[in-house]
Amino acid sequence: MRKKIVAGNWKMNNNLSETNELIAGLKNEMNSITLENTRVVIAPSFVNLQQAVVETKESSIEVSAQNLHQAKNGAYTGEISADMLASIGVDIVILGHSERRAYFNETDESLAEKVTTAIENGFDVIFCFGEQLEEREAENHFNVVESQLKNALFELSADAFDKIILAYEPVWAIGTGKTASADQAQEMHAFIRSLLAKAYNTELADSVSILYGGSVKPANAKEIFSKPDVDGGLIGGASLKAKDFSEIVKSI
Ligand code: PGA
Repeated sequence: MRKKIVAGNWKMNNNLSETNELIAGLKNEMNSITLENTRVVIAPSFVNLQQAVVETKESSIEVSAQNLHQAKNGAYTGEISADMLASIGVDIVILGHSERRAYFNETDESLAEKVTTAIENGFDVIFCFGEQLEEREAENHFNVVESQLKNALFELSADAFDKIILAYEPVWAIGTGKTASADQAQEMHAFIRSLLAKAYNTELADSVSILYGGSVKPANAKEIFSKPDVDGGLIGGASLKAKDFSEIVKSI
């Protein structure tokens, strides 16, 4: 049975003391939640990852990075390698977030390299993709998603998909307060599963967790998560408040 996952993408938020405070709040809230077949993940900034690993050690919360560099090491000023992350106990990474594609020039090609590096280093990858508003309005969203997945992922071996978590995030729904309807999410997730079935096989398609991301809040999480092909969420804004994030976890 594929896993359900609720992941919090903290983006460029929370200094060290805020990180400690939020994790303490989350651990407190999580005490009253029984998780079945569900992973709860937080993705703090690079500088606070090590602290987050220490603070979550005795809890069911897992820690993810928000990016990594594709090269093993070397002259890449300002970048972070898979080995550096692994050495502090981080083995999950978010790749391909629309903000990285838009502001840091990440392309399907560089993302394919990053995914390969992450998989070779034993990471779970939360791979993000999704269409822009104009692309949906032009009814081109299925084509866009298909090419994002084909270009960045479909050269991988079937085995690699044990480590891939997909996160469909329509760009028009990120940080805008506009959520895709539960039916729109379900429609796209079912389409994604059909692409996986075509490129690999139905067993693999059924085993990959597909998260929805984009303005998920306590008020809409339950409806979105109730859809059969939605296996959880990637949460931005609402992951910055312990109460909201744990309410979302409870909705799974
Ligand atoms: P949001 O962000 O929940 O604030 O819309 C989601 C994301 O960027 O992953």
